[in-house]
Amino acid sequence: MIEIDRIGFAIGKSEILNGVSAQLPRAKMTAIIGPNGAGKSTLLSLIARLIPPASGTIRVGGYDVQQTASDTLARILAVLRQENVIASRLRVRELVGFGRFPHTRGQPDAQDGEKIQWALDLMALSPFADRFLDQLSGGQRQRALIAMILCQDTDYILLDEPLNNLDLFHSRKLMQVLQDMAHRLGKTPVLVIHDINYAAKYADNILAMKQGGVFANGPTQAIFENHLLSDLFDTPIRIHQIDGQPVAMHH
Ligand SMILES: Nc1ncnc2c1ncn2[C@@H]1O[C@H](COP(=O)(O)OP(=O)(O)O)[C@@H](O)[C@H]1O
Ligand SMILES: [Mg+2]
Repeated sequence: MIEIDRIGFAIGKSEILNGVSAQLPRAKMTAIIGPNGAGKSTLLSLIARLIPPASGTIRVGGYDVQQTASDTLARILAVLRQENVIASRLRVRELVGFGRFPHTRGQPDAQDGEKIQWALDLMALSPFADRFLDQLSGGQRQRALIAMILCQDTDYILLDEPLNNLDLFHSRKLMQVLQDMAHRLGKTPVLVIHDINYAAKYADNILAMKQGGVFANGPTQAIFENHLLSDLFDTPIRIHQIDGQPVAMHH
């Protein structure tokens, strides 16, 4: 479980998060949705301890992230940031191999090699494994970053807009992989996602954020409600049930 308790965060005089509390259950997939600037990426960065909070605490699997050593934390959680600056003169296999670093400390064994190959196959990257990152399309590069994160093999997997640049085939595949990891392997994926219909189809729970606070948090079916989503996005949205699945349409 991820326990977020009264987290406040500010940049200078502007308040970015205004006391966010939420519990994200383990072995479930949680989607974080909400308008641009709501604080979604900031919250993810705080959970991953990429930035320190002004107030409040966050526990991941019982570990207070502020009090946990970096090498321990790196074996508990992995994070894909929204913006990534990566050295272009790096080969795909090398990048994915970085995911093993918290486990190997630079001494990879055969098992690490298998994990790297597993992640490459999962993201359909084997044909590109020996290419440099600047020889890939945007979507292929995004898949390489995701493969690195999955290769880290952590219980908690935080992904900020992982579907960026991914086509329909790879978006669907990634969501299925993450859902499977949650339901079969007991892992806890938490992802920021803009396409709310992917959230509707695959996420167990939804954390909706607006203006630096929690707007709603609960099971997907409860969040997929006309008024709630319309108010969240200040846009008229109507939910239709198609094949037992909520589908949001704006009009
Ligand atoms: N370095 C910064 N300086 C000032 N404001 C920032 C900075 N980074 C982010 N913000 C502001 O913090 C708010 C939340 O940003 P963010 O967490 O990235 O939103 P989201 O991911 O939901 O789109 C936004 O209003 C954004 O403009
Ligand atoms: Mg963001």
